[in-house]
Amino acid sequence: MEAQEKSTLLQQESVGEKKHNKHIFSNNKKSLEIYRKSMKKAIKTIGNHLQGRNTPFTGTGISTIKSRIDAIHLENNSSGKSLDFVLEELKDIYLNDCIHFHDPKYIAHLNCPILTPTLVAEAFVSSLNSSMDTYDQSTGGTFIELKLIDWTIEKLGYPKNADGIFTSGGTQSNMMGLLLARDHYIKKHYGIDPKMDGLPPEASKFRVLCSEVSHFSLKKNLSLLGLGQNAVIPVAVDTDFKMNINALKKVIQQQKDLGNIPIAIVGTAGTTDFGSIDPLTEIASIAHQNDIWFHVDAAYGGGLLISEQYKGKLEGIELSDSVTIDYHKTFYQPVSSSGFFMRNKSFVDYIKYHADYLNSKEQEDEGIPNMVKKSIQTTRRFDALKLWFTLRMIGTEGLSTYIEKAMDNALFTADVLRNRNDFEIIHQPEISTVVFRYTPFQENGASYCALNSHIRKAIFNEGKAIITSTKVYNEVFLKFTLLNPLTTRKDLEEVIALIVHHGQEYSLKN
Ligand SMILES: Cc1ncc(COP(=O)(O)O)c(C=O)c1O
Repeated sequence: MEAQEKSTLLQQESVGEKKHNKHIFSNNKKSLEIYRKSMKKAIKTIGNHLQGRNTPFTGTGISTIKSRIDAIHLENNSSGKSLDFVLEELKDIYLNDCIHFHDPKYIAHLNCPILTPTLVAEAFVSSLNSSMDTYDQSTGGTFIELKLIDWTIEKLGYPKNADGIFTSGGTQSNMMGLLLARDHYIKKHYGIDPKMDGLPPEASKFRVLCSEVSHFSLKKNLSLLGLGQNAVIPVAVDTDFKMNINALKKVIQQQKDLGNIPIAIVGTAGTTDFGSIDPLTEIASIAHQNDIWFHVDAAYGGGLLISEQYKGKLEGIELSDSVTIDYHKTFYQPVSSSGFFMRNKSFVDYIKYHADYLNSKEQEDEGIPNMVKKSIQTTRRFDALKLWFTLRMIGTEGLSTYIEKAMDNALFTADVLRNRNDFEIIHQPEISTVVFRYTPFQENGASYCALNSHIRKAIFNEGKAIITSTKVYNEVFLKFTLLNPLTTRKDLEEVIALIVHHGQEYSLKN
């Protein structure tokens, strides 16, 4: 190549590099200026968007929403677009029709409104992008996370020797509980190390007992753990949708008689549909007598730990071997933020791995905290910082008022519905869900499934509120999941009026 030609090529390269390097976030003046301006535009767009709508949804149809994204061709954009262009496009393809969990009439799933301090924390989490797997990628972050783990352990009433880790969600935390339960049993009873040698033939007989209304992630996780979904043995619930202790005892005996091996019981502290809390102390005692693992899925109910008024509902959780807590539910954190806790630090040996490039044995011997050994993830977000901002700025007293208000709203809704003769409510709210159905006809044996399915759908398609439905004993019921402390009694009465409106409209047409 001629010298002249070579120099032109190098010049072109550096112009191209300069053009693209401006997007790399760094501490140079230009980059920080771009960051400031960009974030300002993003915040303005979010603010304008939020102020421009006061319903949880717009009712726009799924085909319209899909077609807008289908129309964008990523391969035709090799040189990139401006932020203004992308923000404008985002309004059309996402923002204008996105679901607003913060709306007081969003009362469908377990999505909480989030706290402003957590959004400030998110800016740090993303901008500095620490990774929590090792101390040399997170420094102070490691100790902030450890402090919050200790804080939660204290709230749980676990012994000093307990440990924990932040995870991506309740599903992952439940997976860790089941994994530890499985490997603990194998090590104790077969003297083999499942981490190295896999499962013994007897594993095909392992069974995990949980209430028939526990979360589906238990089944999914057991299939991932090589035990199969059929290893989940459902235990009947009582009329309050809590695990029936006599049924539990019977099921354990039945499984033993069949030659199967119960290795764990999972108690749920806050079932997804009913918010019901299984009798944890009694389950702990049965697990103890049978020498099997006791995991508590407190993904939903965990928030009660910080409420002086309601923490008694979780009594017995301190007797468990492991616990799942979702901070992104009743601690009002943005997704993702969850925790897994184990009663004994040594349980971590079942998943511990020393990678020379990350967490060598030598580093651990030096006393450097080793977070990756406790996690089934490697690279991991600094989600703990959001909870840190929450506790530093709001404190437990403030935080507990949110779930307490939501629980008050659930009791109010139950009272209203119980006093009407056109609704049937099938439980007394334990936390903040209410399961009921619209039953306007007096005839015996009438099926209300189609009517209540229609109501849920019609309300969603209208966008003024969002509620959900579930099936109980194969019948369709409606559900309110109340987490927003800003939801008022008037809001709840208005949503009930919407249900009646759509129900009556349907009845007239059918
Ligand atoms: C009782 C229960 N456990 C576990 C989960 C799963 O949690 P995540 O969605 O954070 O994975 C949920 C989710 O709603 C739940 O209600």
